[in-house]
Amino acid sequence: MLLCYVNLYIFSMITLSKLLLSFGVSSLSKRPKISVIGVGYVGLCTAVGLASRGYSVIACDIEVEKINKINQGIPPFFEPGIQEKLSECIRSGMLKGLANETDRAVVETDFTYVAVGTPSKPDGSIDLTYIESVALNIGKALKQKNGYHITIIKSTVVPGTTQNVVLPLLERESGKKCDVDFGLCMNPEFLRQGSAFQDTLNADRVVIGSHDKQAGDKLEALYRDFYSIHVPPIIQTTLSTAELIKYASNAMLATKISFINTIANICEKIPGTDVKVVAEVMGLDKRIGPQFLDAGLGYGGSCFPKDVKALIACSEAFDYTPELLVATENVNKYQPLKAVEFCRQQLGTLKDKQIAVLGLAFKPDTDDLREARAIPIIAQLLAEGACIVAYDPVAFPTANVIFKNSIRYADSVVGCLKGADCCILVTEWSEFKKLTPDFFKAHMKQAILIDGRRIYDPQIFNKKLIFSAIGLGQ
Ligand code: UGA
Repeated sequence: MLLCYVNLYIFSMITLSKLLLSFGVSSLSKRPKISVIGVGYVGLCTAVGLASRGYSVIACDIEVEKINKINQGIPPFFEPGIQEKLSECIRSGMLKGLANETDRAVVETDFTYVAVGTPSKPDGSIDLTYIESVALNIGKALKQKNGYHITIIKSTVVPGTTQNVVLPLLERESGKKCDVDFGLCMNPEFLRQGSAFQDTLNADRVVIGSHDKQAGDKLEALYRDFYSIHVPPIIQTTLSTAELIKYASNAMLATKISFINTIANICEKIPGTDVKVVAEVMGLDKRIGPQFLDAGLGYGGSCFPKDVKALIACSEAFDYTPELLVATENVNKYQPLKAVEFCRQQLGTLKDKQIAVLGLAFKPDTDDLREARAIPIIAQLLAEGACIVAYDPVAFPTANVIFKNSIRYADSVVGCLKGADCCILVTEWSEFKKLTPDFFKAHMKQAILIDGRRIYDPQIFNKKLIFSAIGLGQ
């Protein structure tokens, strides 16, 4: 009888593991343990992505408050889709946060992702303070660790950093040898804020730069297991090539935006032309493609402005000035000021005029204002004596830190438009796309609208109110 139960148990376990395997969930007990150091957008999405697919993950940060929030299942920033998954992973125990315990995170896991910030220095080059400090701590932890371990740099770092800065620190502090005792990879991320979590789960490609083949192959195996049946192209390369791929990709996208904004500025000089139509038709050419050809007030965020500057600084350190990237940056510097120029054209002086600003975040679906185009626009409007009333669906708390009480914050579109002499659409949140010309007319003092992101149909809006738009030759 007992034998019968044992047989039945073994049979059920085999069937269950077969079933799990058929869903792409390989033997959970054999799965590597993972730690992630730095839980900003990249680190948290990586940690939650892995934990949600059955890996045991430790998320580590120096900010105790951030870790406390994570352990309560609350993301420290607004990002669609992550809230629910994070609380699920915390509840199931697959993810746990540790503050200031890099050593424990490394000792208890097989792979450690480094996703700390690499902010810009005044000369545009990147500040490696956090990378260096984490590499030092990982090195110390590796000294106590038994067994092979792989460190993966996910932070955006200029070519040469992993090899020349991280590697020596790991070897010096651990007293061990890379390739023999531990591995080192560089694995850039390509996720976009606003869809960061989805991008983590469905990548276009995975780039693995490695110091040696052993580490590269082990990380590739991890990704093959993680993506299961939908494995994206995985490219193994050198550490420096992986680092450069990240910068080249962001520089290309930023250049595409500055290019279309240049065409937009030309369109505004030629009556009857419209950059939207130009971009749409250009995008049909497969060699060009339709994406990142949305003309507007320029690019912002924590990546493009910083990465273009860093690539310029890195090239200049090698005595080469990348003129194309310098131009990309210059176009982006002046593009937001087009909104103020349009205001002046319509209102004359801006002194004591009330300007409604719709959208403050650097793009929709985020509360992030880093390098947001709203910042130079509002600064210039204030310098010319205008009063600003702004509304953003989620970014009020982050905006308040920047603008403080130099502007007024409305809690609805109606509140923002009330009494306004002119409205500038700065961020294309979907709630703004539904607004009609009659709505603007009904709530503003003067119905003057500047479409900084080309979300309104000029044929309809031109008829009913005073309407200017980026890239529209009137
Ligand atoms: C960008 C890249 O798209 C990601 O692939 C990359 O991983 C990320 O940087 C990073 O390096 O971490 P993100 O900054 O989140 O992602 O935002 P994007 O969607 O690329 O938009 C950046 C800026 O460009 C926004 O201000 C947006 O309004 C602007 N933009 C974008 C345009 O003005 N026109 C476009 O056609 C597209």
